[in-house]
Amino acid sequence: MKIRKCLDSVLPYVPGKSEEEIKKEFNIKNVIKIASNENPYGPTPKICNLYDNINYNIYPDNYDTKLREKLSAKLGVNKSNLLFGNGSVEIIQMLARVFLDPNDNVISELPSFSSYFSEAMIQNAQIKTIKYNSDFSFDINSIIELIDEKTKIIFLTNPNNPLGTILSKEELNMVMEKVPKDILVVVDEAYYEFVRDENYVSAIDYIKDYDNICVLRTFSKAYGLASLRIGYIVANENVISNLEKVRVPFNVSTIAQKAAIIALEDQEYMNQSIKKIHKTIDYMYESLDKLNIQYIKTQANFIMINVRKSAEDVTYELLKRGYIVRAGFPLMDNWIRVSISTLEDMQGFIKALCEVIK
Ligand SMILES: Cc1ncc(COP(=O)(O)O)c(C=O)c1O
Repeated sequence: MKIRKCLDSVLPYVPGKSEEEIKKEFNIKNVIKIASNENPYGPTPKICNLYDNINYNIYPDNYDTKLREKLSAKLGVNKSNLLFGNGSVEIIQMLARVFLDPNDNVISELPSFSSYFSEAMIQNAQIKTIKYNSDFSFDINSIIELIDEKTKIIFLTNPNNPLGTILSKEELNMVMEKVPKDILVVVDEAYYEFVRDENYVSAIDYIKDYDNICVLRTFSKAYGLASLRIGYIVANENVISNLEKVRVPFNVSTIAQKAAIIALEDQEYMNQSIKKIHKTIDYMYESLDKLNIQYIKTQANFIMINVRKSAEDVTYELLKRGYIVRAGFPLMDNWIRVSISTLEDMQGFIKALCEVIK
């Protein structure tokens, strides 16, 4: 069969191992999954009757009408500036299909979210990357210097995954002043709800002034709805109407639409879980400082820790002790990414980490 050549270098996404797999493999009872930046507190308990009154035999609302109304009011954008996806990864795929011809290129930070790279490769496009600075921020000038006539998209993850660092308002201003108007700047704000740094600004504020910027958001993280797969993009109408051409019909389930509405209506619950996560991040800083272990201050719900030896080996040792974390990030051979779970889980993790790296 004549499979496209560009797929030779594309690897399927490998998720972290599941709790069940680890329990079986190492014959242990308690496993804590802190590898995929999920929310340990889950969604608002108000979604408990989610499955009532669902017409299972009827396709979902293809226009996500009620959710669209709710979100446009909350964000202060027009309904025509929104499009929903089966997770924000589906929208990254749509962006690649709309913008990338073979041999075009995309620019992004390295390390960054892997879907930007895989979706570009599937379109047979090239990837240009810029490494983080010594303080783990990104050098915006160098990103801009990579632009050439084949550049179609610049992906900026703000806060960055896996580093947890942000682009400041000044840096975002600079990007928008310098990037040519025919190149799309995609600001992925999957973790924006967790940010505490006052220099941060959401790129949603820029959409009214710039046609070439868009913002990705998700209900998977702060809203605790990762299992239902729902995310969205805010962009100008021209971008949205082209994304509509490649969107799979009925791509967001009725249950996901309904859950997102209930989650948006209970901001208080989300604020409380973010507060708890911030407290636990502070506990992590304190503990790692005491142990003299290097980490990167985070604006998200995960933290990068320098384990000073092979991150793959440390990850394996942590697995044996029931902690699933993530390693294998480009340019970060000795670092693991640890999602912030409950205080109790993280206390256990710190003990296990001490055993493994001391
Ligand atoms: C930066 C970033 N963007 C997008 C996503 C995908 O989120 P979703 O669950 O909405 O597909 C993730 C998930 O980990 C992420 O880290």
